[in-house]
Amino acid sequence: MKQFKVAVVGATGAVGETMLSVLAERKFPVSELVALASERSAGGEVAFGDDEVLVRDLATFDPAGVDIALFSAGGDVSKQYAPKFAAAGAVVIDNSSAFRRDDDVPLVVAEVNPQALRNRPRGIIANPNCSTMQMLVALGPIHRAVGIERINVATYQSVSGTGRRALEELGRQTAGLLNFQSAEPEVYPVQIAFNVIPHGGDFLDNGYTSEEMKRVWETRKILGDDTIGVNATVVRVPVFYGHSEAVAIETRDKLGAADARELLRTAPGIELVDEPRAGGYPTPVTHASGRDPVYVGRIREDLSHPRGLNLWIVADNIRKGAALNAVQIAELIAAEAA
Ligand code: A2P
Repeated sequence: MKQFKVAVVGATGAVGETMLSVLAERKFPVSELVALASERSAGGEVAFGDDEVLVRDLATFDPAGVDIALFSAGGDVSKQYAPKFAAAGAVVIDNSSAFRRDDDVPLVVAEVNPQALRNRPRGIIANPNCSTMQMLVALGPIHRAVGIERINVATYQSVSGTGRRALEELGRQTAGLLNFQSAEPEVYPVQIAFNVIPHGGDFLDNGYTSEEMKRVWETRKILGDDTIGVNATVVRVPVFYGHSEAVAIETRDKLGAADARELLRTAPGIELVDEPRAGGYPTPVTHASGRDPVYVGRIREDLSHPRGLNLWIVADNIRKGAALNAVQIAELIAAEAA
């Protein structure tokens, strides 16, 4: 089997370190693993399976010979370095939003539109936003079966989606407040501990935030249908790992709750947890955190609309929402070479 020289850019970050563990867990055929970050953490080490790998400075690294590069160091880093890696011959799988809207960059959810990655003229493939990702693993099969006209979603997003400093901020504020100290916000605009914040990304002229508009653009691109209406409210909640979403859809043809359950029970990447009276609904802590599947529960018909359906969708935003999907894309690339 062909082996690949794999670079992880942002290897010391919340997503980067999970990319390393998912590559090792899934036994991706790695001939050499290169861990890259900023000058700040160069010289340190990160875990890759049972090994420790030296962290190298991205700014001085020569990408020649890298086969696959997984980027998760923010949009600015991707814009500057991803084209250089691609020009040197690597296939870049980018977790930032830098290229997601570009027509010549495929945006791929491994279970939903794997065929899209075949056409990658710039050598760059974009990984969708974490909460779009989990939503579409569940909605992709429904759209294929009956068509989706409209999606109304409110997200309950964990702090890990913002990165390592946000994880530290939630821990620090929680411990501080329980010890009668104040909780100064640094990463978020207001206190996140014991609070909810209806604000992700930047506010735009249309009243939505940039995080909310990603749901609109990315959903249409991945499902290949510009007519789908998407209305999103993004909320940050004091959860460490795992995003939850209350999703209400209107389908073209009616799909009853029982049929939706049957459809999703066998759909790839999904685990159905839908016995509400017996406590059978998914939550970030009881189901998703540290696990791969997208969990779906609370499926019920919308009393207020003849073709409306409600779903509760929970997944680990760092795994399926970011690192796992990036590695699944790498596996699809590896399969092309086999
Ligand atoms: P570093 O540890 O050197 O700061 P998170 O999103 O969890 O905060 O992680 C961001 C990741 O992106 C980290 O690995 C961080 O490395 C990396 N990073 C941030 N800025 C740069 C940069 N200019 N060059 C290379 N890596 C960067």
